[in-house]
Amino acid sequence: MTISIAIDGPAGAGKSTIARLLAKELNFTYLDSGAMYRAVTLKAIEDEFDLNDNTELTQLVKDLELDITYQNNVFRIYADGRDITDKLRSAAVDNNVSRVAQVKSVRDELVKKQREIASKQNIVMDGRDIGTRVLPDADFKFYITATVQERAQRRYKDILKSNGRDIDFKDVKKEIIQRDKIDSTRKYSPLKKAEDAVVVKSTDLTIKEVLKKVLNIIERS
Ligand code: DC
Repeated sequence: MTISIAIDGPAGAGKSTIARLLAKELNFTYLDSGAMYRAVTLKAIEDEFDLNDNTELTQLVKDLELDITYQNNVFRIYADGRDITDKLRSAAVDNNVSRVAQVKSVRDELVKKQREIASKQNIVMDGRDIGTRVLPDADFKFYITATVQERAQRRYKDILKSNGRDIDFKDVKKEIIQRDKIDSTRKYSPLKKAEDAVVVKSTDLTIKEVLKKVLNIIERS
């Protein structure tokens, strides 16, 4: 029997960082489900698909071979054999991924893959619909959140640090608000706290404190 831990929450709440550290601590596999939506989006942009054409996106996701590896605590994602992990956080992907993630056929295909991966090993998976749809029977569910201001600040710092993109804080905040809106109001599997998820508000907490809280809950049970 395998153990699964679902971590959901809005963009910039710190769920990926926490999920990654938790997986390392517990020696579980980590799956960043957002990276899969980003991979489809990147491929669609690179191959000049029409992002508003659901039929084209359906074909793309069906043809795309996504391979995911997690070794020595490092998560990598390959599209048709090419390592695209470092390309997934570009402005173009950031700005289009929520739109692609609304498409039912894209979601269905990726959810299938996510469940398959989870069925084979102990896993920490983060995303928007892990506790509600992908793994409704997960052993532990957490919903990590923080204020918009805090999430925008974290994102802004990340962007400056990782790719030095010339960007305005106001635009980052606007983009977060826009993504929250699309992610939580879309028709299929919107971002929502699972009824049985534990809410962790991370605004005034350090990463270490959030991790400790989550670990305490897991270890207590
Ligand atoms: O976690 P992230 O920012 O990398 O996610 C990118 C986008 O993918 C996000 O805007 C919503 C979508 N997503 C989703 O719809 N369902 C998931 N399980 C994970 C991500």
